[in-house]
Amino acid sequence: MRIVEITEFGGPEVLNINTVPDPEPGPGEVLIRVRATSVNPVDIQLRRGDYSDAVNLPAKIGVDVAGVITKVGPGASRFEVGDEVFYVPRLLENEGSYADFHVEQEAIVAKKPQSLTFAQAAALPLAAGTAWECLIERARLQAGQRVLIHGGSGGVGVYALQIASGAGAYVATTCRSENFDMVKNLGANICFDYREPDLYTRLASDPREQFDVILDTVGGNTIENSLNLLKPFGQVVSIVDQSTPQNLVSGWAVNGSVHFVFTTQSAARLERLSAFVDSGLLKPVIEKSYTLDEVVEAHRDIERGQRSGKIVLTTE
Ligand SMILES: NC(=O)c1ccc[n+]([C@@H]2O[C@H](COP(=O)([O-])OP(=O)(O)OC[C@H]3O[C@@H](n4cnc5c(N)ncnc54)[C@H](OP(=O)(O)O)[C@@H]3O)[C@@H](O)[C@H]2O)c1
Repeated sequence: MRIVEITEFGGPEVLNINTVPDPEPGPGEVLIRVRATSVNPVDIQLRRGDYSDAVNLPAKIGVDVAGVITKVGPGASRFEVGDEVFYVPRLLENEGSYADFHVEQEAIVAKKPQSLTFAQAAALPLAAGTAWECLIERARLQAGQRVLIHGGSGGVGVYALQIASGAGAYVATTCRSENFDMVKNLGANICFDYREPDLYTRLASDPREQFDVILDTVGGNTIENSLNLLKPFGQVVSIVDQSTPQNLVSGWAVNGSVHFVFTTQSAARLERLSAFVDSGLLKPVIEKSYTLDEVVEAHRDIERGQRSGKIVLTTE
């Protein structure tokens, strides 16, 4: 089978497509014919060496799978050959989803939404699963609450908007003004261009712009900026590894909470997402699709920035 591996950290050109024997499922595992995967920022971060202390070379890449069960390992009983599935692989024992086949523990694999193609399904697990974990599981978002999604046009943001809107929240978001129409179609009630000078000073001085839940998919000073916009007992949820010192004192004044989420793998969460998809409340947002052989160009594309959804890789 083909698999993308790196033997050194660096730019997109370090991505090699190698041919290796097909893997075999062990006890409690299933073998999946990968039909599509997606490109996530963590793939770029891993490739360029941001986690070089934790990642051994050669390394494999990719954290989304949509495909078909082709073999069931000893003791595995949840799936049959031919079942169509999607999932987020274990992140720390990464076997790499940029490949023709992938082995995974059956416990974290879920049935793919029937209504979606493999490419559409591959655009969901990590990004939509993280958005769901942050808003529904961690912040326990309620209908009628006001939520602010930072980075609404990005991979996680496009799903966070839909999940928050589907949950009955009033939804604000930050993105480029060029993406205002797109994010409104995904459920945003109001949009702010993050390039506006002194945006957060303006919002903090407007008592109407206060939020129960704020999702940070951006990093930098976003937690500090967000704490100034919190309602009493409000919550900020951040998914970005924070290296910028921030002043959190505004959170004290409003009894605020800050949560950090490093997404966990959960078949049950993916099944709830599937139900959301099947009820029409969540749709995949694909900006562009590449084949596995075009992986270098796909990485170049995502590194250019200015996202409007997900980039997927198909193995056809
Ligand atoms: N903790 C976890 O479990 C977890 C899970 C998934 C992702 N993540 C992390 O979360 C981050 C976002 O992931 P993603 O897949 O959504 O990335 P993405 O697709 O690159 O999206 C990032 C979005 O942020 C926007 N943006 C950039 N600067 C901004 C600013 N100052 N204010 C508001 N928006 C801004 C970008 O808009 P433009 O492109 O228009 O500039 C883009 O739409 C990444 O760092 C990723 O590694 C963490």
